[in-house]
Amino acid sequence: MILSIESSCDDSSIAITRIKDNKLIFHKKISQELIHSKYGGVVPELAARLHAVALPNILEETKKYFDDLKAIAVTNEPGLSVTLVEGVVMAKALAVSLGLPILPINHLKGHIYSLFIEDETRFPMDVLLVSGGHTQILHVEDYDNIKIIATTLDDSFGESFDKVSKMLGGGYPGGPVIQEYSQKGDVNRFLYTVPLSNSPKMAFSYSGLKNQVRLSIEKEEVLSEQVKADICASFQKTAVEHLMQKLKKAYKNRQIKNFGVVGGASANLHLRSRLEAFCKEKNAALHVAKLEYCSDNAAMIGRCAVDAYKLKKFKDIDKINISPRSSF
Ligand code: KG4
Ligand code: ZN
Repeated sequence: MILSIESSCDDSSIAITRIKDNKLIFHKKISQELIHSKYGGVVPELAARLHAVALPNILEETKKYFDDLKAIAVTNEPGLSVTLVEGVVMAKALAVSLGLPILPINHLKGHIYSLFIEDETRFPMDVLLVSGGHTQILHVEDYDNIKIIATTLDDSFGESFDKVSKMLGGGYPGGPVIQEYSQKGDVNRFLYTVPLSNSPKMAFSYSGLKNQVRLSIEKEEVLSEQVKADICASFQKTAVEHLMQKLKKAYKNRQIKNFGVVGGASANLHLRSRLEAFCKEKNAALHVAKLEYCSDNAAMIGRCAVDAYKLKKFKDIDKINISPRSSF
């Protein structure tokens, strides 16, 4: 079995995954969302202190599996430096005391593997990664070969939901807040422009859309619940339309067999229904993770670590560093 640790942002999570059949033996996650919600976003130093309390508490519950462990896996990039360190230090201490090798795992690769929890690896696959830190279209050939087809020039898809929610006094994370308001709103009340619509660039941009929303909020005399719902519905429609326009462009002359959507924002229902239609048109199979594995968790890190273990991606303890910004 492999013990995996995730602490790249505001979720403290540990999993135990069985190597021979990818079975998830244990998984626990303590989310700090409610605590950060007061501040309208994650406060890194506070997140680090909360990990320092939560991770040892979860670890306590995994002691009965220690004799069966073959490796310790840990997210070491990308993420918040001060929170990544909490997981990495714990992984190093465990590896030394139990005499086990360490597998450093890239968080974004972990999100891709959320599609394969308790399942087989299915590569090659084209993937849309939409999280709080990333918006990318990827072609994943195999574990080591991941090509970035498009990425964001500024804010990410999930981040724009967080910022719009903050502007409306809706709290963090913004995605579920905006989604709920949208259900009662009129998608045509505010006509926001789709970013980079006429640009040939294979890239995303969400900061302009966020500013369009800010201006429309400033124009409203009273921010009634109905106005908020209409803003959310119009914003969500435009944000998703931007993803869809670039996806259609990216695959205009290309076949897709397997298409996956991952990351916290892949839980968005409007996005999922647009992707279903897109994949139907392209004759591709759409792969989504279970809702509980869309946002950050150690189960996806553990599942990724099973393949890393088989590929012998071990690293010497003194060579494992954190990297806040790395991609693949
Ligand atoms: O993957 P994740 O848990 O953390 C990162 O690796 O960043 O993603 C969190 C992001 C947040 O920005 C959150 O607002 C967004 O995912 N999110 C959503 C939804 N649920 C979560 N965005 C849009 N619609 C949702 N239903
Ligand atoms: Zn994530």
